[in-house]
Amino acid sequence: SSGAMIAPSVLAADFANLQRDCEMLNVSQADWFHIDIMDGVFVPNISFGMPVLEAIQRHAQKPLDVHLMIVQPERYLETFKKLGAEVITVHYEACPHLHRTIQQIKDLGCKAGVALNPHTPVNVLEDIIQDIDMVLIMSVNPGFGGQKFIEHTYQKVQKTRQMCDMQGLNTLIEIDGGVNQKNAKKLIDAGANVLVAGNFVFSSENPIQTIQELKNI
Ligand code: DX5
Ligand code: ZN
Repeated sequence: SSGAMIAPSVLAADFANLQRDCEMLNVSQADWFHIDIMDGVFVPNISFGMPVLEAIQRHAQKPLDVHLMIVQPERYLETFKKLGAEVITVHYEACPHLHRTIQQIKDLGCKAGVALNPHTPVNVLEDIIQDIDMVLIMSVNPGFGGQKFIEHTYQKVQKTRQMCDMQGLNTLIEIDGGVNQKNAKKLIDAGANVLVAGNFVFSSENPIQTIQELKNI
């Protein structure tokens, strides 16, 4: 389809049935497993760490898209690579030496993403966008699933797409937070090509069908 890639967020899965939920994603049309790592410092919440990711890796048959909401992510890049990460996204706000961090991710053989909090303007990426594979635009304040989508996100997606077009880049643009059937089409029209969805997928009656519906937008 001409639609976006879909990356369901495992944060919204049932951790007591992680194998079942991973197998559901395996047979669904999901493109990636989105993995939210929170440290209780960069964001006011702790999600899960290495042992849980190791368990996910044993069952996941699709690329792991690891979103690091942690301070000093450089300390753990190699560990996440070993745990199966194919995409590693760090926060702009957590990386004073972002260029170096990006090179470290790429040297590990991973795709490198940079995430922006809702208050961070996209133009801060002007001098790094050539070096990255993906921009992750947060459409909620990071830290929790199930929050309300911030409408201003569409404008940020458009600006990011324009920046990429101007430089002749086909950088991935991923949107994360409060994504659902209502905002997905507008996000894709604005230039998004990867959609993360947590609660919208896992709280639905039929997650496989919900993923299919998002995929076919
Ligand atoms: C928020 C996380 C998101 C979250 C998405 O800090 O980065 O990936 O799990 O969940 P929903 O789709 O429920 O907003
Ligand atoms: Zn995320």
